[in-house]
Amino acid sequence: MLKIFGQRIIEEIILNKNQNRIVFFVALILLINGVFIMALADDDDDDHHNSSKKYKKKYITPVNNPTYEEECGACHFSYQPELLPSGSWKKIMAGLDDHFGEAVEIDTESINVISGYLISNSAEKSSAKRAVKIVRSLGGRTPIRISEIPYIIEKHDEVDPKIFNRESIGSLANCTACHTTAEKGIYDDDDVKIPK
Ligand code: HEC
Ligand code: HEC
Repeated sequence: MLKIFGQRIIEEIILNKNQNRIVFFVALILLINGVFIMALADDDDDDHHNSSKKYKKKYITPVNNPTYEEECGACHFSYQPELLPSGSWKKIMAGLDDHFGEAVEIDTESINVISGYLISNSAEKSSAKRAVKIVRSLGGRTPIRISEIPYIIEKHDEVDPKIFNRESIGSLANCTACHTTAEKGIYDDDDVKIPK
């Protein structure tokens, strides 16, 4: 409303050049105010007040790069690039000769394809709710594990640690063991089914 009002005054100034300068400044202040209030309103954040509408994208995009899927999905779930910031992916790709104790061998051309895919689709470039929350909770840190992101750890606070040790699960890193829709990029609690 403020914005429309401000806009009207500016239109009037344009139409009538005799207008006083003060009117122009009042219009400017009203405009700045309107933008400021909108920015503030956009910044509130609460999972439990159905805030999903304000995220441009609801879910994480499923993996859509065959080279990545094939090479990085060979030993574990091919985590969507939006689950980590680009700084993390760069570290992971630079350390493949000792990747959590394993030597991952991939040809240079594929490495370039995978790095390009991960970096251009990383968490900080996403507007999906979970990605935005991941970036926020990291505050600039770049861990090489999704399972070390404070937001992800916090979300699993209520899961008994013994459950992760089950043979069917192994660790928090095994998203697909419990999230039946993880491959679709959907990590809602409604779709969780913890295996025996
Ligand atoms: C040879 C098997 C193998 C391949 C191939 C492989 N990884 Fe891994 N990856 C592992 C192991 C083992 C772990 C550690 C698992 C654990 O400790 O729970 C891991 C863990 C990870 C994690 C951390 C998971 C977490 O949140 O704790 C990420 C991210 C990851 N890998 C990315 C990649 C990427 C990217 C590629 C392809 C460039 C790749 N991996 C290829 C074996 C592999
Ligand atoms: C042992 C099973 C298990 C594993 C493994 C697991 N999760 Fe979860 N996850 C859960 C449960 C259970 C909840 C719901 C917790 C609650 O509501 O208290 C949850 C909640 C979440 C949420 C929040 C959902 C919401 O609606 O607020 C996200 C995001 C999430 N998990 C992502 C992941 C990711 C990413 C991974 C892999 C790195 C992962 N989870 C691995 C069981 C698991």
